[in-house]
Amino acid sequence: MKEQLYALRTDAAVRIAQAGDTTQLEAVRVALLGKKGELTAILKQMGKLSAEERPVIGQLANEARGELEGLLAARAAALGAEETARRLAAETLDVTMPGSRKRLGHKHPLTVVLDEVKEIFLGMGFSVATGPEVEWDYYNFEALNLPQGHPARDTQDTFYITETMLLRTQTSPVQVRVMEQQKPPIRIIAPGRVYRSDAVDATHSPLFHQIEGLVVDEGITMADLKGSLDQLAKRLFGEETRTRFRPHHFPFTEPSCEVDISCFRCGGAGCPMCKGEGWIEILGAGMVHPKVLAGCGIDPERYSGFAFGVGLERLTMFRFQIDDMRLLFENDMRFLGQF
Ligand code: DAH
Repeated sequence: MKEQLYALRTDAAVRIAQAGDTTQLEAVRVALLGKKGELTAILKQMGKLSAEERPVIGQLANEARGELEGLLAARAAALGAEETARRLAAETLDVTMPGSRKRLGHKHPLTVVLDEVKEIFLGMGFSVATGPEVEWDYYNFEALNLPQGHPARDTQDTFYITETMLLRTQTSPVQVRVMEQQKPPIRIIAPGRVYRSDAVDATHSPLFHQIEGLVVDEGITMADLKGSLDQLAKRLFGEETRTRFRPHHFPFTEPSCEVDISCFRCGGAGCPMCKGEGWIEILGAGMVHPKVLAGCGIDPERYSGFAFGVGLERLTMFRFQIDDMRLLFENDMRFLGQF
């Protein structure tokens, strides 16, 4: 039995050293020291021993158990440390690796300028109104003093849904809808899409955007119109911008005007941007025609108002010096990414 115990100690030391991980080591432990293990199997033979031999072997067996337990514990500690080191190495986060870039979008240039215009007018006490893009002939033309057969209709040919229903050619019908619903004082802007039967080129699109403005109250004069639009021009294009009001004709305003701004490129001296004029036309405006007011149930003897309509694409092109309107609709990221 002495020999068996020595053999077990030598053999066990090798097997413990060879256990490659904690699971294998546990299997070795059970095989050596478990209830059905090799040491137990040897001890079961103790009964055959003489009374003198028994304590000696007992002593040796205890030494063997103590030694094996020591080896197992040491190997367990070593394997545990190795496994921790391996896991830490595998989970290392290399903060110097290039990250995956999240591309953040931004507003379309038309929205950038629309938001600026809204901001300017909200600051002057206006609110934002909307109307339908599929509109009645009545609101788009008739109520704006453009009866059937009026020659000015020709310049705004559009897409008809029926004889009396069409895609609106301007945001001006929103004026009528608002005046039918609200009593003065009225102060609104109405941005939105409009449609015309125009071929696409650098300055035309069958779909574009306008921003309508309308103020109706007692005592509103052309001075209010001029002051408000002068503010718009200065806030959008810079404090040094000057405005010029030229007589014009629109059926729904009287008097009517077109508004020019001093060229933001040359300051008015004349350059290719303003085609040598020094001025750039930006919008149409006027004092709301008494017939239009009366048609909406507003007494033109008591109230007066001004209105304007401005093309958002045009404003945006001037604002960012874009020379072709098509760029605003093509959604080419190389273009849009510049704003
Ligand atoms: N609706 C006009 C157009 O599309 C622009 C316009 C002119 C609107 C004068 C107005 C205005 O409100 O008073 O050409």
